Amino acid sequence: MELSKKKIADIRKKIEQKNSVFAKKRYLDSMILPSKIIGREAETEKLLNNILSLRDGFVVPLVSVYGRSGSGKSTVVKFVCENLLDLISFRFVNLRKAKTVFGCANMILGNLGEELLSSAQGLNKAVDCMQSQIEKIMKHERKKYFVLVLDEYDVVFSDTRSNPSDFVYKLLQMEENLRENGFWICIVTISNNMLQGYDLDDRVKSRMGSADVSFLPYSKSDILAILQDRAKKAFRVSVPKDVLEYCSSLSSSDHGDARRALDLLRTAGEICNGKITKDDVDSAQRNLQKDRVDEIVSSAPHHLRCVAAAICSLAIINQESWSATSSIYKKYTHIISKTDNPLSYRRVSDLLVELENSGLLASRAYSRGRNGYGKEYKLKVSPELVGPSIDSEWFASVMNKKISLDRAKNLEKLLPRTSPLRKYSRMFSDL
Ligand SMILES: Nc1ncnc2c1ncn2[C@@H]1O[C@H](COP(=O)(O)OP(=O)(O)OP(=O)(O)O)[C@@H](O)[C@H]1O
Ligand SMILES: [Mg+2]
Repeated sequence: MELSKKKIADIRKKIEQKNSVFAKKRYLDSMILPSKIIGREAETEKLLNNILSLRDGFVVPLVSVYGRSGSGKSTVVKFVCENLLDLISFRFVNLRKAKTVFGCANMILGNLGEELLSSAQGLNKAVDCMQSQIEKIMKHERKKYFVLVLDEYDVVFSDTRSNPSDFVYKLLQMEENLRENGFWICIVTISNNMLQGYDLDDRVKSRMGSADVSFLPYSKSDILAILQDRAKKAFRVSVPKDVLEYCSSLSSSDHGDARRALDLLRTAGEICNGKITKDDVDSAQRNLQKDRVDEIVSSAPHHLRCVAAAICSLAIINQESWSATSSIYKKYTHIISKTDNPLSYRRVSDLLVELENSGLLASRAYSRGRNGYGKEYKLKVSPELVGPSIDSEWFASVMNKKISLDRAKNLEKLLPRTSPLRKYSRMFSDL
């Protein structure tokens, strides 16, 4: 096919028609800081309490803000800081792209307007530069209080070669030095888990105190309120209430994630035909799930894909929605043995937790009687959606096995109970 002026004009027209339902689409962009925050009063009050204690001379050195994805942590913290500018200076650093502890230090330096350092110059030098730069900012902005927000702080703990605990220690030390010089500073970390729950030295834990603000996942009515507010501004057409309710119940059922709810509504708007319906929301949900699964699986290392393949295969062949870690491990070793040596049981358990954190799996505990409790997992999306992203050829073979198994089962039903042929159909279930 050849690209022509007409073709471009046609594509443009198609896109413009698609976007015609939107008045201001940016209101559905989850990257933009909203001008209005819905709810979250208790969390805001707790956060403010900690930050404002600076003024009373009581220092909370580290405030750990934590909660699931899309629960409004970054939005609320930024909003609070921006509304305290008469009192504080603040810098908001998103550490997501940093791969190492030193990388984090450099990102902070860059955000403070300082030149980046080479890792050979060392972490101590980096923290010293941070300290002098913060002093400079506070003098320049004539502020006595400074809040350093470190968003996506979890990345610090994924650098297993360095010592994340030591980095926290150095930051606390820097705060003390600044305080001695008359500059009051508070660090707010934002992460998915509570900071105290990470592997930190006791000396660090005791120094950093236990100020935390937890953000629970949004309920259906919270998400509905956020969507109603945005839909009014974002769409030219009015979105029926039952459609908004449907979007919020899909988004709150297991994750309570406002970002996903906004993405869902925006995608439904993009694919609708002039008027948004529940069917558009369903199609949008499928598109988004497919994109998300592709994103998780395509970037996953080989063993993680094999663990995902194991649980997917159990879901399809054995029709098990929940599978115990031991069954998944057995299936995983069977799959991996064709190409590689299997990882240990413990390591595979960690990979399952990783898949759960990425949002692909859900888990629950189950009783093993006298042997305590075990963990079971299930896919949060249909295995038919996950399988092809792992490996289309492999998935086609799983589906073929499933068809053969179903045929054998049907055949078994027709055979007399005593027929020796029955055992052949059972053999398939162990594939
Ligand atoms: N209370 C709220 N009122 C209005 N909009 C909100 C609210 N909470 C979240 N949002 C919207 O949802 C999006 C996601 O929120 P946010 O980025 O703050 O989540 P998060 O908890 O930081 O998630 P993550 O852990 O993935 O970084 C934001 O862009 C924001 O537009
Ligand atoms: Mg965030």
